Amino acid sequence: MVQNQQTIGFGGFTAAGACKVIPLAIAAKAKAEHAANRPFKLGVITGASTGKSLDGALAEAEAIAWRTPYQSDKILRKSINEGKTQFFDLHLSAVQPTVRSGVFGNVDWAIIEASHVTAQGEIVLTAAVGAANTFARLADKILIELNAHHPGELMGFHDLYEPADPPYRRAIPIYSPTDRIGASFIKVDPAKIAGVVRTDLPDESGGFAASDATTTQIGENVANFLANEIKIGRLPKSFLPLQSGVGNIANAVIGALGSNEGIPPFMMYTEVLQDSVIDLLQTGKCSFASSCSLTLSPDRLIEFYRELEYFRSRVVLRPQEISNSPEIVRRLGLITINTAIEVDLFGNVNSTHVMGRDLMNGIGGSGDFTRNAHVSIYTCPSIAKGGKISTIVPFVTHLDHSEHSVQVVVTEQGVADLRGKSPHDRAELMINNCVHPEYREELRGYLRASSKGHVQQTLHNAFGMHLAFLERGDMRNVEWK
Ligand code: COA
Repeated sequence: MVQNQQTIGFGGFTAAGACKVIPLAIAAKAKAEHAANRPFKLGVITGASTGKSLDGALAEAEAIAWRTPYQSDKILRKSINEGKTQFFDLHLSAVQPTVRSGVFGNVDWAIIEASHVTAQGEIVLTAAVGAANTFARLADKILIELNAHHPGELMGFHDLYEPADPPYRRAIPIYSPTDRIGASFIKVDPAKIAGVVRTDLPDESGGFAASDATTTQIGENVANFLANEIKIGRLPKSFLPLQSGVGNIANAVIGALGSNEGIPPFMMYTEVLQDSVIDLLQTGKCSFASSCSLTLSPDRLIEFYRELEYFRSRVVLRPQEISNSPEIVRRLGLITINTAIEVDLFGNVNSTHVMGRDLMNGIGGSGDFTRNAHVSIYTCPSIAKGGKISTIVPFVTHLDHSEHSVQVVVTEQGVADLRGKSPHDRAELMINNCVHPEYREELRGYLRASSKGHVQQTLHNAFGMHLAFLERGDMRNVEWK
């Protein structure tokens, strides 16, 4: 049914709720078409990253002409960086409004994983929402993967709300992470459902590496910083809701917040729930979590389903334009914690491109949260590639979050609270508190060579450390001019 040059909106968000068998079938068709010398490429819009059977299989079959937003698949990343797949990055909160605006043209297919579907066209989603509600409403036709791995009792966990577009938009009425404002299932014209494929497959989420000394220390540094902010009265004693990014550092940060006695029980308003949040929901340290997906390791998801009634009053899953809504992030006063690839001495953050050139994953929700946070925090290890790279550099090679939005930077070395600091003071703080000892003199040297101006930048030196890495594989020992 799926034809060359069509555009597909896939449900799900991360590997959670991503389709697993229909994209494999599309990839097989692409390969067959290519073998017969016929073109077969699609426009692919997703919620965020997906699993290997979706992005991986379609990229391997060279079936993706263009793709938005966030991805994290190795084969797709390679195809994007080789210029074979056109990729444009979007803030995740902007996906649904941009699709509605018509910028991507017609959506031919919505392909969505469901835990339940009725003859009346009621679709109950699985472990994530993503942009599925918008894709289902706008698409000409819908294909459903009805996945028995997810219990029908998931009905009630989703809160589906689609705001009107300007000039008719009203306030989104969420005043606490616990507020519910929408429907618990998608309702479509049943005539649009072109097919239902039954499956019984777990999500393709990877699981997490155990925390190591570096991620544990980063987690503790974040937790101690926030506990102190409460103690000195800069954060309310009742604390504020948290957003936390993806990956091992984020998992370790949440774990550290959970065991820090200076942090009271808190709520989350976030886009991904990882394993560590489930632990805290079980102990009560996290009292409620609003998310777009349950990005859990396979065993934890089964455990979650086993205790579904416990979590029913503690978890809600929302579309990404609501979980990541700038309006709500600002209103709730979120403390946001995301991970950087590199940060410069003045607080600019690169989350997406290595050496300014090669895409890693994409901006994801980091911009939605950072720009609108009450307190925005960036974490990263101070070094990468065994110390050959300092993640703190004179000037970022790609800018995702500017110094105007980034407030606090945390590495395993310590915390640089950049709020209320001039660029000169920021650079000092970054070197003293966040930079790895092996790079402190290096970066002091950069500042000595750049002593003038509001921001101590010297354009001919600004990428000196990056150039040293590209030329000789190590950022150390740059001769500043
Ligand atoms: N220069 C070059 N490479 C670097 C680097 C740097 N400054 N910093 C890290 N790397 C490399 C690492 O060595 C690693 O390489 P490998 O895969 O070959 O081992 C890779 O980048 C990933 O680093 P890692 O420390 O494992 O990162 P992570 O899994 O914690 O992910 C981001 C970090 C930034 C890629 C990830 O958080 C991301 O995609 N963020 C953007 C989206 C986002 O923030 N979403 C948040 C809302 S949920």
